[in-house]
Amino acid sequence: MAYKITVIPGDGIGQEITDSAVEVLKAADKKFNLGLEFDYHDAGGTAYDKFGTPLPQETIDACKAADGVLFGAVGGDKWDKVDPAKRPEKAILGLRKALGLYANLRPVKVADALVEYSPLKPELVKGVDLVIVRELIGGIYFGEKCESEQHNGAERAWDLENYSVPEVERIANLAFETAKLRRGKVTSVDKSNVLATSRLWRRTVAKVAENYPEVECNNLYVDNCAMQIAVNPTQFDVIVTGNLFGDILSDEAAVVGGSIGMLPSASIGECTSLYEPIHGSAPDIAGQGIANPIGTILSAAMLLRYSLHEEAAADAIEAAVDKALGEGYRTPDLWKEGFTKVNTSEITKIISER
Ligand code: NAI
Ligand code: MG
Repeated sequence: MAYKITVIPGDGIGQEITDSAVEVLKAADKKFNLGLEFDYHDAGGTAYDKFGTPLPQETIDACKAADGVLFGAVGGDKWDKVDPAKRPEKAILGLRKALGLYANLRPVKVADALVEYSPLKPELVKGVDLVIVRELIGGIYFGEKCESEQHNGAERAWDLENYSVPEVERIANLAFETAKLRRGKVTSVDKSNVLATSRLWRRTVAKVAENYPEVECNNLYVDNCAMQIAVNPTQFDVIVTGNLFGDILSDEAAVVGGSIGMLPSASIGECTSLYEPIHGSAPDIAGQGIANPIGTILSAAMLLRYSLHEEAAADAIEAAVDKALGEGYRTPDLWKEGFTKVNTSEITKIISER
């Protein structure tokens, strides 16, 4: 059986980092006989230049027909003056909508070799291996809103938060399934001491938890969770939360990792899921062959794990990354005295070989 992977390099360093991830996927394919097939499509500024739109229908169709999508990054100063509706970044929102990407998974794993890059004390970050499961298409970001109205003699604005039981059930199920593949612990984060939506969230997660007796489940208020990520991040396995809290907590957790170039993400969809590094198109270093491809390589590993259920190949890629870092290879963003400086293609080859 063959798997079809749609690759969308996008803009800036997108081309370099997706080339790199595809090379590593091909090495994994050779070893595990996966039968991967790649097809390339445009999105972002590159697509705007060719077709006058950042997200051609042909790209959407290819994504829908694929087993998984590997996405680089979009955007750049070159398109700053483009009509806002056609800006490169619109491609991401368009894909979220077209593919029904309802959940965002953001793992933060700190390799032993990289503890000193975290702003936290090394003894706090050693062994951090968590994933934030954020609801992505509901909650306050998508509720009814009012930009301006008069109320009791003053101007006001408002945003409504709402969550339905099926929306929470879907994300909770994903969180428990993810925990089953990991260390078997879910922490659900809300603000149920104040918010009605959070009370429904907590009730619904508790019901879903009954179907997963093998998974341990606890609850934290979001303010406490924000503190816990900074003071005791190793306590977490899977954190599940709504759109707003997840947006903030996932950026907080990302800095614990220390390097933006290292972190992958998955956006889980109803049919196809999309995998991309958390960073952008890095126009300041594009075209120089020095971008750190590891965030994209680890995104490719997530694609193997979550979309193709090829666990062994995913594990092998993650282990190869750890090995390369442990041996002291560093791209310029992470390079320090005493390490071996390598460029994008060199680190790619080193990881592929391992
Ligand atoms: P950025 O993440 O592209 O870059 C921030 C800084 O980190 C830069 O100094 C960059 O050189 C560095 N950096 C990022 N990834 C790196 C890597 N793999 N290796 C080495 N260094 C790396 O964020 P910025 O500068 O705010 O945005 C640049 C463009 O990317 C903008 O047009 C923005 O809208 C877009 N963007 C796109 C995203 C996406 O496609 N999902 C996400 C975030 C931003
Ligand atoms: Mg954010």
